[in-house]
Amino acid sequence: MRAVRIEEFGGPEVLVPVEVPDPVAGPGQVLVKVVAAGVNRADALIRAGVYHRAGRPPLIPGVEAAGIVAAVGEGVTGIGVGQRVMALDGVNAPGFYAELAVVPAGQVTILPDAVDLTEAATLPVAWLSAWYCLRSLAKVTKDDTVVVKAAASGVGSAAVQIAAEAGARVIAVAGSPEKTAWAAELGAHVTLDASAHPDDAEVEEVLRLTGGRGADVVLDTVGGRAFGRSLREIGHGGRVVALANVALEPSTVDTRDFYPKNAAVLGFQLTNLQIHGYDPRADLRELADRVAAGTYRVAVETVLPLDQARAAHERLERRDNRGKIVLAVGEN
Ligand SMILES: NC(=O)c1ccc[n+]([C@@H]2O[C@H](COP(=O)([O-])OP(=O)(O)OC[C@H]3O[C@@H](n4cnc5c(N)ncnc54)[C@H](OP(=O)(O)O)[C@@H]3O)[C@@H](O)[C@H]2O)c1
Repeated sequence: MRAVRIEEFGGPEVLVPVEVPDPVAGPGQVLVKVVAAGVNRADALIRAGVYHRAGRPPLIPGVEAAGIVAAVGEGVTGIGVGQRVMALDGVNAPGFYAELAVVPAGQVTILPDAVDLTEAATLPVAWLSAWYCLRSLAKVTKDDTVVVKAAASGVGSAAVQIAAEAGARVIAVAGSPEKTAWAAELGAHVTLDASAHPDDAEVEEVLRLTGGRGADVVLDTVGGRAFGRSLREIGHGGRVVALANVALEPSTVDTRDFYPKNAAVLGFQLTNLQIHGYDPRADLRELADRVAAGTYRVAVETVLPLDQARAAHERLERRDNRGKIVLAVGEN
């Protein structure tokens, strides 16, 4: 089969198209013919050798995809050859930048017919992360004001829509006027251009926009130095959900920025959640049903052929994407 493999850790140039033997589904596994693979920050971290569970090269990156079931291993029930599915795998060796991938059956979710496979390929990581953070951790309600950082990113563009659908007031923070305008199109009620509000100016603007009270929820998809700002933007009894460190830099935390406000800091890491028992299938099915119903707009901004994985990573790392980048792998 065709695949893109990392022969050594490094920049986007180490993503090399190769021919490798077809994998075979073992007991409890599903062989998926990949139609589309989502591109994630985690893939860039795996490629660079700084992801916590990446293993050593040579390895095929890619932690989410959608496609067709090509075979099922011994003991697999409820999933059959020919079904349209989405799959998630950051737990074992990843590998969706390939025509075929083997996945544990518990990480494969059957798709409603109405959901396009290219869009479905973006649900298992960015959308599921935004969904879990806002619904299961922050428990967002219509009474909340929610700040979404990097609101035009893969996770951010999902979070804006999920929070708005819950009835919350959404303040979208993003790095350019183009990105904030786009976040408003997705349903953000108020936008904040981070490039015009560096450092504490962003905090002051969030406080101004919330009448001095601070936000009820901050979804911190940036981390690093930006995390300290999230703590200052939260209001009394609020919840900060931290799920990223995009700049791979330390955060400086002043505990006085959150304990006097009785605020909660909640962490999220999807792979570790699965390792500790989380089964993503019910949440993914609910998300897919909402996409099928037209409740959410899955923002796929760039689709590139598999052998252009390098260009996909370069685009992601230039940080000018609005929504998701997807690799087109096989025929629908
Ligand atoms: N913990 C988990 O399980 C989990 C799951 C999914 C994603 N994540 C993390 O969540 C973050 C967002 O994911 P994504 O897929 O939505 O990413 P993405 O589409 O690549 O967006 C990342 C955005 O972060 C903003 N940013 C701020 N400071 C940055 C910096 N120093 N370098 C690069 N970008 C910077 C940029 O937006 P602006 O230009 O608007 O500032 C950039 O476009 C990533 O860090 C990812 O690893 C974590």
